Amino acid sequence: MTKAHGADIPAEIRNRDAMDPLGHLKARFHVPDGLVYLAGNSLGPAPLAIFDEMETAVRSEWAEGLIRSWNDAGWFSLVETLGDRLGRLIGAAAGQTVICDSVSINVYKALQAGLSLRPGRTTIVAEAGSFPTDLYVAEGVVAGHPGVRLLLEGVDADRLEDLIDEKTAVVLVNHVDYKTGALRDMAALNRIIHAAGAIAVWDLCHSAGVVDVQLDAAGADLAIGCTYKYLNCGPGSPAFIYAASRHLDMLSQPLAGWWGHAAPFAFERGYRADGGIRKLLSGTQPILSLRAIGAGLAAIEDVAMADLRAKSLAMTGLFMELVEQSCRTHGLELMTPRDPRLRGSQVSIAFADGYPVIQALIERGIVGDFRAPDTVRFGFSPSYMGFEEVYRAAMAFNEVMNSGSWRDERFARRSIVT
Ligand SMILES: Cc1ncc(COP(=O)(O)O)c(C=O)c1O
Repeated sequence: MTKAHGADIPAEIRNRDAMDPLGHLKARFHVPDGLVYLAGNSLGPAPLAIFDEMETAVRSEWAEGLIRSWNDAGWFSLVETLGDRLGRLIGAAAGQTVICDSVSINVYKALQAGLSLRPGRTTIVAEAGSFPTDLYVAEGVVAGHPGVRLLLEGVDADRLEDLIDEKTAVVLVNHVDYKTGALRDMAALNRIIHAAGAIAVWDLCHSAGVVDVQLDAAGADLAIGCTYKYLNCGPGSPAFIYAASRHLDMLSQPLAGWWGHAAPFAFERGYRADGGIRKLLSGTQPILSLRAIGAGLAAIEDVAMADLRAKSLAMTGLFMELVEQSCRTHGLELMTPRDPRLRGSQVSIAFADGYPVIQALIERGIVGDFRAPDTVRFGFSPSYMGFEEVYRAAMAFNEVMNSGSWRDERFARRSIVT
């Protein structure tokens, strides 16, 4: 892979970086030299603090501390202490967020928790265009609840809102669509969901860390999301789950395990759920992976999410402006909404031959990704990127499209992960 050199950077772009109040955050991350990394919506880069954090976690806490570290290093409470810190980045007051398990598992728990809050109701509503795992899990949940049906936006009605009625138990919805980058108005949709007496479960995978998510203020009921994308906590890092405190008494979830017990170290025969957010836990969590989450959060938690959001929108806006002409020339559709109120932090372009385009860009040191069947995605992170990278990426995209260099057959060979 070559480095992303080449384009002369206009003074106006350099000035934007010079004036950027978040410019100092870049120094907190390791982005390989010369790379323009636009796949943070898939896996964020390593925060520099991770190296010491892992060293301490392994050498000192595990190797030396051994079992004592469950107490001395706070291992047993990490799910909550980190959960509260992450909660601050998504507008959740303390005691409503835990870090645990994977997104898929948390979707399962959240849907079941939602059903437990609305017994007797007979539908779960979701989006046909949802990230597939959410739908696979929803289908599994429905299979275990005879009488409950899954209704999908895009199949059973054009608009999600038209599927929500007095039969709806739970609405599972993505805050930002993983393919198009479109953003839902959380507060407005919650009002519709609540007017029907239903429960809202938000998938925040593509908004946590880049959108000013306000779970409490928007009246969300439950939410889940990952930490490995814009929160930069590492490959396969544990997910999070949020439940509004008003629901904690009443909700239940089916993966009852000893970490969710009211008195885990009493080793009682019978299950008694914890009274708080720990009731959403099941069993032992991967402590080394949890330790990495502290480093990811520390890299952005001292700046205002509103500032990160403003820079993110400026970056996606600039990129769209710079690639618009070549998209038009080549008949490509910009899938991401132009209206800043309606987009997250990525720009998606529909192109059936997008895979080789992405490979050609990767060879030039511009790393985006491709989602079958036809979506080229560029994720923009306001924490470790500047406007110069946005400019370089756009110029490289234009060059690859205009020269047709992506047509070289070496770019067509598919790897397992696209
Ligand atoms: C919107 C969305 N939901 C769920 C997932 C999958 O989560 P996991 O593989 O961590 O269970 C992803 C992964 O990229 C995602 O983008």
